[in-house]
Amino acid sequence: MLPRILRPSVKEDPVNRNPVAIFDSGLGGLSVVRQIRHILPAEDIVYFGDTARVPYGSKSRPTVVTFALELARFLLQFEPKLMVAACNTASALAMDELTAELPLPVVGVVEPGARAAVELADGGAVCVLGTEATIESGAYPRAIRALDARVEVISRACPLLVPLVEEGRRSDDAIVRAVIEDYLAPLRQQPIRVVVLGCTHYPLLRQAIVNCLGCHVYVVDSGRETSLMVERVLSRAGCLSRSSAAGSIRCCVSDNPARFCRIGSSFLNEEITHVELIGPERYVSSAVAEAEFETG
Ligand code: DGL
Repeated sequence: MLPRILRPSVKEDPVNRNPVAIFDSGLGGLSVVRQIRHILPAEDIVYFGDTARVPYGSKSRPTVVTFALELARFLLQFEPKLMVAACNTASALAMDELTAELPLPVVGVVEPGARAAVELADGGAVCVLGTEATIESGAYPRAIRALDARVEVISRACPLLVPLVEEGRRSDDAIVRAVIEDYLAPLRQQPIRVVVLGCTHYPLLRQAIVNCLGCHVYVVDSGRETSLMVERVLSRAGCLSRSSAAGSIRCCVSDNPARFCRIGSSFLNEEITHVELIGPERYVSSAVAEAEFETG
């Protein structure tokens, strides 16, 4: 299903100039920002990474839903024309709540990734890789089967990959190769035709994943598919930026901006020089603050 159509609210302030808001559990969503900036270089972007509460991939659905709504509500102050849930875990667990609550179109990464996988499957199986929460949610298989009920979906949680990537390890690293082999070698017996990188961090390990599964397997980068979806939604609504200048990027985080700059730059493939630190009073809802207080 495509997101709701945009409606410019104020004539004198064309919605085309408003930013695209993007949120993630931390810095991984910058891999999605990278794709959006590649496809839509004139768009202004405002990004909120919840570095204080990452990872989301091992958390329960109610927590992820609460956190995702808080990040999205915070971003509304920038009057975005579109909201992107760059985090696969948040997209898998909180998409219904986000679309129900937010007064603007919301694009998650699951639906575009599933759509691309179905197009490429051609009778073969689709293998979805993601965090524990994403895989347990069953969101990718649901989205894939909603498009084509005949597609076989094999899912595999790969929780060790996120910390390895954040530690700067990439496809040529022996530990990365060993971990991927451990997760994926049993899948080589399956008739896999497509592998979905269903986590913001996995595109940085693309080569190791391909090396393990074999180069006959198509790779779907959900972030890239999402950026194409963002382009379609904005274009259909006549809301693409008309600026000839390069779009700006404003980054906000809930903790440790220095680490975000240092590690995030390799996700974004651009140097990050300025990040705003956002205190919990600006995004944590009182319900969660009280619950956390009560439990200790
Ligand atoms: N951004 C998360 C995702 O794509 C990975 C990191 C986390 O567990 O929060 O699922």
